[in-house]
Amino acid sequence: MKESENDKKLKKVKEEVLICRKCILGEERVKNKYYPVIGEGNHEAKIMFIGEAPGLQEAKTGKPFCGRAGQILSELLLSVGIKREDVYIANLLKCRPPNNRDPLSDEIQACACFIEKQIEIIKPKVICPLGRYSMKFLMEMFGLSDKVDVISKIHGQMFECQGNFAGIVVVPFYHPAVATYNPNMKTVLLNDIKVLEKFK
Ligand code: URA
Repeated sequence: MKESENDKKLKKVKEEVLICRKCILGEERVKNKYYPVIGEGNHEAKIMFIGEAPGLQEAKTGKPFCGRAGQILSELLLSVGIKREDVYIANLLKCRPPNNRDPLSDEIQACACFIEKQIEIIKPKVICPLGRYSMKFLMEMFGLSDKVDVISKIHGQMFECQGNFAGIVVVPFYHPAVATYNPNMKTVLLNDIKVLEKFK
């Protein structure tokens, strides 16, 4: 199939990530022979999911959300009839933090230009942060700083952007990994994801 403009632009982002050493995670990735995890899915997607950072499985394969949290994300999508290949899935950080620790704010800042470019290229209408770090970063990026709250209060809510970002909706979700250590949360996730039915 012929390469689209977006395919070319996203390939360029990948090349930039490969040589990035703005934080220590780039060195760590090379040392451990891990892949960077850029993103996967439809390069013209209407819906984009943005997690936090690659885990071990993701770093070993280069694919986002391919481990246990990813299985849950796939189940959630299936429950509302959305195909994984129709959405785009990426992370705030492209390289794996050691021992799956939380992303540091310096690392988020260093990596921000990549997710910003991916959003600019794909131009999704619905942006779904997965987890609190993504929620805060993306809500601030889309002029929703005054609506930022703890994820337990705003999960599954739709926030319509204004001004330059009018037409874009941000819907924060709990990180799907919550259901791996608290199975009761699966019900909450299944309920929240229903909000996306109207964007199919
Ligand atoms: N958790 C994330 O935030 N991203 C992944 O790709 C996998 C697990």
